[in-house]
Amino acid sequence: MVGRTPDEILADLREKRGGDVRWADGRTFSLVFDGGEDVRAVAEEAAIMYLHENALNTLAFPSLGSIQAEVCSWTAELLNGPDAAGFLTSGGTESILCAVEAARERARHERGVTDPELVLPISAHAAFHKGAHLFGLRTRTVPVTADWTADLDAMADAIGPDTALVVASAPQYPQGLVDPVAEIAAMAAGVGAGCHVDACMGGFVLPFAEMEGRPAPLWDFRVEGVTSISADLHKLGYAPKGVSVILHGSRDLRRWQTFDFDGWLGGRYVTPNLQGTRSGLPMAAAWAVFQYLGVDGYRRLVRTTLDTADRIRACVETIEGLTVLGDPVHHLLAISADPAVDPTGEQAGRRIDPYALGEALAARGWHLDRLGPPPSLHLTVSAGNAMAVDDFLVDLEEASDEVRGGATGAAVEYATLE
Ligand SMILES: Cc1ncc(COP(=O)(O)O)c(C=O)c1O
Repeated sequence: MVGRTPDEILADLREKRGGDVRWADGRTFSLVFDGGEDVRAVAEEAAIMYLHENALNTLAFPSLGSIQAEVCSWTAELLNGPDAAGFLTSGGTESILCAVEAARERARHERGVTDPELVLPISAHAAFHKGAHLFGLRTRTVPVTADWTADLDAMADAIGPDTALVVASAPQYPQGLVDPVAEIAAMAAGVGAGCHVDACMGGFVLPFAEMEGRPAPLWDFRVEGVTSISADLHKLGYAPKGVSVILHGSRDLRRWQTFDFDGWLGGRYVTPNLQGTRSGLPMAAAWAVFQYLGVDGYRRLVRTTLDTADRIRACVETIEGLTVLGDPVHHLLAISADPAVDPTGEQAGRRIDPYALGEALAARGWHLDRLGPPPSLHLTVSAGNAMAVDDFLVDLEEASDEVRGGATGAAVEYATLE
């Protein structure tokens, strides 16, 4: 390949982006969460400053050491963990992998567990299964109840002497419900296991929602028995991609995550998470966004977000053939076919296939993830969607009329391997 001019290269990149989802117009309900032009501007300045820095060695880059420490300690304060300690990771998946690996190590060392198990509701994120696969834990998946939260009886049956980690979500991704964390954490503690709360989606929403007078049952470090929490800055923390926080309840619990090795010719090698070389860019950008927004800024964005989500839920419930699954009260929701409409009988003409609706909305420029079972459309609402919500509600009604009683659409896979 022959080298090219910067102008040519950038023109090519602009063209390549032409087919990508239009998140900056507020038309994407997942993947990118936009805090607005001003938030982006601060993040971009910080990102450029740290584009080339490497957090692998925080002795060489002490600024990144302090950026990490400060973001973790603010997050610990927000999640009511006075003794909590953690690290920044590249995202929700890495935070979850670190929690799973740390729990396996702790179970082995403290309780002699050699065949460790991970107990989780079927609503928990796929990253936990990835962790179990990578780190050699057996998964014990339990169902959810009619309200889409973890089935506590099934969980009690699944938890036992080999349990290394039990999972709860705040909220879970598929339907946006918060699991009964207090009950789950108590069961985990009963066998000496860890309890991880996956707040990748809710970590930077639920605390501010509580300040805004929308409390959820307690789910953070105020709950006895919660040993670790993941919270993603690159989702509703409004930082650019590549940054999440993993917190453990104490420094003592955090030590199970750290890899400290000197059995090679390269000297002592200590890494807090899964990466070796680690970009300073997302860390610095997240730090800058956190500083810029402060509690007031996050509260403002959360107010906008929850009002927008409420409007969408209210509209869905007025559309014949559609319903919101469960009773989510925060920023996530799933739109599904109303089970009261019989898809086979006389009512067949009134049913709406969620995947066909997804296609009709995509044709109007909207991106919603298609999930299942049951077939449903997912929305993670963020502040950036507020500017487009009026148009969305009009298109949702129109698209519903268009597909009502019609053919089924195709589920969309998350990604291909190409
Ligand atoms: C609840 C929850 N946990 C974990 C993850 C994984 O996060 P990431 O995609 O940043 O790895 C997601 C992603 O959507 C999520 O919704």
